This record gives sequence, structure tokens and C-alpha cells, in this order.
Amino acid sequence: MPFPIHRYRRLRANQGILRLVRETHLTVDDLIDPLFVCEGKGVRQEIGSMPGVYRCSIDMLLKEVKESYTLGIPAVILFGIPANKDAQGSEAYNPEGIVQRAVREIKFAFPDMIVITDVCIDEYTDHGHCGLVEEGKILNDATLELLSRMAHTHAEAGADIVAPSDMMDGRVQAIRKALDTTGHENTIILSYAAKYASAFYGPFREAADSSPQFGDRRSYQMDPANSDESIREVLQDIEEGADIIMVKPALSYLDIIRRVRQEIQVPVAAYNVSGEYSMVKAAAANNWVDGERVMMEILLSIKRAGAQMILTYFAKEAAKVLNR
Ligand code: PBG
Repeated sequence: MPFPIHRYRRLRANQGILRLVRETHLTVDDLIDPLFVCEGKGVRQEIGSMPGVYRCSIDMLLKEVKESYTLGIPAVILFGIPANKDAQGSEAYNPEGIVQRAVREIKFAFPDMIVITDVCIDEYTDHGHCGLVEEGKILNDATLELLSRMAHTHAEAGADIVAPSDMMDGRVQAIRKALDTTGHENTIILSYAAKYASAFYGPFREAADSSPQFGDRRSYQMDPANSDESIREVLQDIEEGADIIMVKPALSYLDIIRRVRQEIQVPVAAYNVSGEYSMVKAAAANNWVDGERVMMEILLSIKRAGAQMILTYFAKEAAKVLNR
């Protein structure tokens, strides 16, 4: 037998053959564009640690959504920055709150854009935690009521998907019940099921002004050392009624994305989070890496790991490359 028997380079010889044997395809259909919405008019303020990402008032937000829509991106996810914060995060479930108004305006202007809302009170509480606080402790069950009200007001406003990101136990069940008993049985729940206590959220907290004012989130977000636990979290959220589950962050957790996809056959979303975005932007600004190629390689790797959809601040930039 002449050596080598297999010449793998045969299938790498040109673009045509590469296209035929390619295993993973990233498309615009995979992308979800995260957007920050704040009060005011004509506001479009760049986030210092996230070049190319803005906090927008609703009028300017509609322009962002229009761009995404025109690029063919199927969905946006909204994060609200309210004018006032308090201990209960009451703006989070105000039917006239910033996100509720933004959802109505987006669905009016772009009825077939899928609108996802983040359901979590940390952007709305003065202490910056994702749950109610009593004597320095984060309360689980008392928080469920607030999350349910928040999800309900989002659904009333027209959100297609609500996405609880708080990591309180039992919140998917509580939200499902609140939606089903108010005529919103068709509202989808995308649960941040395996959400780790990560330092990669740093730039987001600047963007949303949501850093915890004391302690950290390790009593409710997952320990980065754990993998089996992500399977238990995901299974429980599915049992409680989640339609899509999320792994977050994405890059240091590609193994988790892979496991969840392989062991539990449900739609998997991955969140390519703020710190993952900022690192690439910082390195590219220094000409240390080719930002565009690194971006595409990262998104492809998340898809290859098993994610069917990717929440990413690169959404519009990547869509432009994919549409070229
Ligand atoms: C919580 C929430 C956070 C992110 C999304 N939803 C922040 C946190 O848990 O502190 C982070 C997203 C990112 O870093 O891009 N509402």
C-alpha cells in the first residue's frame, strides 16, 4: 500500500471542495442582537468598554432594530436601563416601564421581528442584585412573584419570548404559570438555564449600570468549576416549561454547550457575552488580531459546539460579513 493512504489535503485544495465538505455553517438566522434601551429622546451613547454598542432611547433604538431587520437578523433581546431604581426593582414590572414601551414600539414598527426580553430585576434594583434582599441575603421565593409580574408585563406588551436570567430556583414554573393563566400560553420561555458566575459580564454591568452594590452573584449563579450541575439545571428548567435553554457565557463554556446539546435534545442558545466581545475589540484596536476573522471564528466555534442560536454583540457586524 503506498503511503499515505489518505491525503486529507485533497479535500482542502480549493474553495469549491471546501464548501462541499464543510460541516458547520454559520448563517444570519443564528444571530440574536442584544440592545440596551434607556429613557430620553435622541440618546445614542456608546458604551466605553463595548465599542460599537450603544445605549439608546426608544426613538434611536428603532433605528438599531431597523438595521438588524434589514440585515436579516431574526431576533433582538432587550435590556432596560430605567431612570429610577429601588430596592424592589419596581420599574421592572411597570406596564409603562422602559422595556414594555420599547417592545410595543418595536412590534408596531417591525411586527415580524422576534422580540426577546431579559427577565431579571438587577438592572432595576438599587442594590444591583437579581433578587430581593433581606439582611444581606438574596431571597428566592419572594423574588419569583416579581419575576412573574415582569414576564407578564413583557408578554402583554407583545414580547415573543421572555428570557429569565436571574437564576432563582423555580422561576420558569412560576413564569409559565403566570403567562398561562393570563392568556399568554403562546409566549415562549428561553431560560438562562446554565448561567455561570462569570467575570466576563464586566462590561455589561457598566452598560446596564447593574453591578451588585455588595457581595457578588455566587449564591445564585453557577460555579464555573461545575459541569454535571448544568445538566441538572437544564433538565429542571425543561420540566418547568422552558422551550429553549441557554448556556452563558459561551467561550469558556463550549464544553457545556456541547454536553447539553448532546445529552438533552432541546434548542440551545449560547450567549457570547460582553467580556468576550470587549476582549476581541480591544485586541483588534491594537492590531494584535484580525478582529473580523477572530469574530467569525468565535461565532463558528459556538455553532460547532452545538448552539442553534447565538446572542452576540457582533450580530450586525457578523451579518454584514455573512451577507457579503
Ligand atoms: C442579568 C444579566 C446579565 C447579563 C445578561 N443578563 C448580567 C449579570 O448576570 O450580571 C450579562 C450579559 C453580558 O455580559 O453580555 N440581567
